[in-house]
Amino acid sequence: MRFVLNNEGREWALIDLYGEKPALIVDFSRPALASRRRKGSIRAELLIKAINQGPGARVLDMTAGLGTDAFILAAYGHRVVMLEQSKTIYLLTQNGLDRAAEDPGLNPVVGAVGLQHWEGTTPLVAAKGFDAAVVDPMFEAKKKNALSKGEMQMLQSFIGKGSELTPFLNAANVLGIKRSIVKRPRSDRLAHRDPGPVYQLEGRRSRLDVFLNSA
Ligand SMILES: C[S@@+](CC[C@H](N)C(=O)[O-])C[C@H]1O[C@@H](n2cnc3c(N)ncnc32)[C@H](O)[C@@H]1O
Repeated sequence: MRFVLNNEGREWALIDLYGEKPALIVDFSRPALASRRRKGSIRAELLIKAINQGPGARVLDMTAGLGTDAFILAAYGHRVVMLEQSKTIYLLTQNGLDRAAEDPGLNPVVGAVGLQHWEGTTPLVAAKGFDAAVVDPMFEAKKKNALSKGEMQMLQSFIGKGSELTPFLNAANVLGIKRSIVKRPRSDRLAHRDPGPVYQLEGRRSRLDVFLNSA
């Protein structure tokens, strides 16, 4: 056994018993996230731009992870349902949400997100009426994404290799979601699907591929 889920008081942490990676804790009050929440706008956040709607859109985040993207979207005013396949990551992120709910400054944001332990590629029958889907499959360890390097590496060590994209896009289609936004490393030039994205937004660290479902 390499990883254990530990709790100290109210805080849950995923610990690497090999001591190679820093403990993983979900903290929605961390300063870097607070600054992004405050500045969150179509100009500042590529994901908000890719969703292309004013506050109030309904977003299905099919790969919740540590909930950072969902939190940014909810702080902007969108309503987000997150799905996470790993029970452990689900518990970590839910613990972060529970603690954030006790902070009066964060409580309204927590109220705009929901988290379920669920496979994003299996269409959730209740998940109807979403305006957009967000898919952030696991990146290669050496690439960067929304998470800091340490967090990403730890998550990757724990979860393992990333998932195929097509099942997520198919699930979004089944749910009638018109817009799917896929997060990729900026340098990832591989063709992932035919037809490909209708457009791409490039950020400093990652790229968003936007797929539209016309069916
Ligand atoms: C790179 S992380 C997502 C990071 C997230 N965007 C954030 O801001 O914290 C990928 C996450 O997707 C989850 N995942 C991968 N395949 C999934 C699936 N089929 N259904 C639900 N979650 C999945 C992994 O367990 C992992 O926690």
